[in-house]
Parts: sequence; structure tokens; C-alpha cells
Amino acid sequence: MVIKRIIVYDSVESTMDIARELDRGDVVVALSQRRGRGRKGREWFSPRGGLYLTIVTERMSACRATIVSSVSIARALEKIGIKSSIKWPNDLYVENNKISGILSVTTEDKTLIGIGVNVRTEKFPPDLNATSIFLQGINIGIFRFLSMLIDTFLNVYYEDSRVIFEEWKRRLDLRNRKVFHENSIWDIVDVDENCQLIIYREGIEKRVSSTDDIKFL
Ligand code: BTN
Repeated sequence: MVIKRIIVYDSVESTMDIARELDRGDVVVALSQRRGRGRKGREWFSPRGGLYLTIVTERMSACRATIVSSVSIARALEKIGIKSSIKWPNDLYVENNKISGILSVTTEDKTLIGIGVNVRTEKFPPDLNATSIFLQGINIGIFRFLSMLIDTFLNVYYEDSRVIFEEWKRRLDLRNRKVFHENSIWDIVDVDENCQLIIYREGIEKRVSSTDDIKFL
């Protein structure tokens, strides 16, 4: 994959909508979104100060999109001194606060990887439990972080998929976690190579994906 164009908008409804019309290798960036979208129909808080982008790639599985993008963001954050962990499948947290989220969509011939990073955001609605690079004490410009992120993304994209899977697993925070699934509490055991969560309860082991009915406790 090569990056062909980086198209920057001041404000858009959602970079996901624009990306649908673009080609593989294009990246659409916005400085704010009027209708930023999160996973599971949620809204993504998108004021000026954050970085909102969608990368259009070759068609890939949801699992690969999850791994490539979350590992890229975690590495880019690490380069500027921020230690984050991945909350399965692909939310980036600094301690208990979310710093970045990913929404990937696959169409017939391409995958749209939407990434929101709280770069310079100074205030969040209290119910969001969010943080930003700025609030972590790092003063970096949006475009500087964008270029680091794209650079890291391209590196990760070409790395051996087994190696990045292991890195994703290492960065996942699954310790002492339990999930609520089908009216009961389950223990998290591990993740498998399809990015599914392996959960256990009363002698039963099950594999669930992020679109299943599952809630972290
Ligand atoms: C989530 O954590 O629920 C996913 C958030 C994804 C947000 C990004 S910002 C750029 C792109 N455009 C959107 O409307 N959403 C994604």
C-alpha cells in the first residue's frame, strides 16, 4: 500500500462518508466532525483539537484492520512518551481514560479505517472518561502526530501478521477482566487469531466477537 493523497478538511459530517467515495491509498483528515461516529451506533466526540481521519486500504478482514490500526496508534503514542493499552478489540486507553478509537468498515473492494485521536482536546463531557495527548502533558501539533501515525501505519501494514498479532496481544489489557454476556458474568481467558475473545464460565468456553452481546465489567 502506498499513500496517494491526504485530503484535509476543516469540518465534515464524518470522514467515513467522504472516504466511501475515495480510492485505496487515500486518506481523509478532518479537524472537526459534525457527526462523528463511533462503534455500535455511538457518537464520537469530535471538536477542534482532535485528529479525525479515515484511511482507505485494500480490502482486509475486520480482525486485520483492528490489529494493524490499534498497534499503529499504540506505537505512535509510545514514540511521544505515552504508554497506552488496548481495550479489546481496538480502543486505546491511558489508565482508565480513552485516548483513541477505531471504526473500520469493509465494502466490496476496500476497507475504510476510521481513527479518532484526542490530540489537543482540553475538555470532555464528564461521562466520556476520556483523555488527550495534551492532557497527558505532551504538546504536539495535529499534523505532526498525523505524520507519525501514517508512518507507523505503513510500517505495521507490511510487518509479518503473526508478529503484529503477538504485539496486539501483548498490548491488550485482559488482566482481571470479566464480561457480561447473555445475562451472566464470564471470565476472559484469551483472544484467538480471529480477534475473538475467549471467555469461560462454569465449565463452558465460548468465543465471542465485538459485535456480540458483550459488556466489560
Ligand atoms: C469508537 O471508539 O467507537 C470508534 C471511534 C471512531 C472515530 C473515528 S474519527 C474518524 C472517523 N470518522 C468517524 O465518524 N468516526 C471515525
